[in-house]
Amino acid sequence: MNDPTALRDRWLQAIAAATDPAALAELDSRLFGPKGEVLDFVRSVTTLPKEERPAFGKAANAIKQEVEQALAARREAFGKQTLAKELAASDFDPTEPGPRLPRGALHPITIVQNELIDLFTSMGFQWQDGPEVESEYYNFDALNIPQDHPARESQDTFWLSDGNLLRTHTSPVQVRTMQRLTKQGFHPPLKVVVPGRCFRSETVDKTHEHTFYQMEGLVVDRHVSTANLIHTMKTCLRVILERDVQVRLRPGFFPFVEPGFELDVNCPFCKGAGCSVCKQSGWIEILPCGMVHPNVLRQGGIDPEQFTGFAFGMGLQRVVMLRYGIDDIRQFMGGDLRFLQQFPEVAR
Ligand code: PHE
Repeated sequence: MNDPTALRDRWLQAIAAATDPAALAELDSRLFGPKGEVLDFVRSVTTLPKEERPAFGKAANAIKQEVEQALAARREAFGKQTLAKELAASDFDPTEPGPRLPRGALHPITIVQNELIDLFTSMGFQWQDGPEVESEYYNFDALNIPQDHPARESQDTFWLSDGNLLRTHTSPVQVRTMQRLTKQGFHPPLKVVVPGRCFRSETVDKTHEHTFYQMEGLVVDRHVSTANLIHTMKTCLRVILERDVQVRLRPGFFPFVEPGFELDVNCPFCKGAGCSVCKQSGWIEILPCGMVHPNVLRQGGIDPEQFTGFAFGMGLQRVVMLRYGIDDIRQFMGGDLRFLQQFPEVAR
């Protein structure tokens, strides 16, 4: 039998002597192909007496590895040579900067959503997510919305053929969150915000869209009151509208809160004097909110005798429109670059 060291030297020499990638590929299949020399050599261990096998096997494997590495190194060297040759032959300059394309920017809804998330997380809220395809239970039943409530009607709700629906608000995530936490053994305090896309079968006009964005907020703890709700909303509106604000509450009906409110903010355009935006009232309706209904807390696995909570559902488009003075909600989904380029915050 051939001396292993002599074999190894012969193979390494052959690799070093290969003059081009084709010769190297041929050598590769001669050494490592189905009847390759190197593999034959390793397999020849079976022809040896038992006691010699371990030592031979070890040495043969080391040689095999060495030859493989030499092949790979040579292949890489050829690759570099080829690339260098191609580059030298063309006038391509890889160091030249590319063309300066205009940079993308964030959508105004995303800008405001990010600011709100920063603000709420700084106040100790957690950011939660929920599904856009929702069950009837979470969208309605769990929120104390009875079977015959008009919100369920098909002219409002996009029903799917499997009985599910496109969520009509972000409120289903209230019960989802409470259930998830209580099932894991957690108890309030609980503070979450849920930004998300919602859908309603609306006739689209200046102030209505079938696809819109909300930011839900939910706080549950001992002794949570309407005063906490007002304070939180004022803080949030002050930051997002970049001015000091006054708010007022009017009664509003939502089956999942009791009492329920419509929260108004003083009109930024006329400073309360009355103008066309606020319909001469001096106030703009900005978000619905209220104290979480005991039935909703129960659905979430929380005892309403011990805990209370508040919730709000901010329409993001509405806030963005107020903040930037946009007068037509259709702009947001219209895909008109002239509109979008007016919000120059570059993508982070
Ligand atoms: N989910 C309600 C809606 O979309 C808004 C809301 C949220 C009201 C939370 C009260 C409390 O219309």
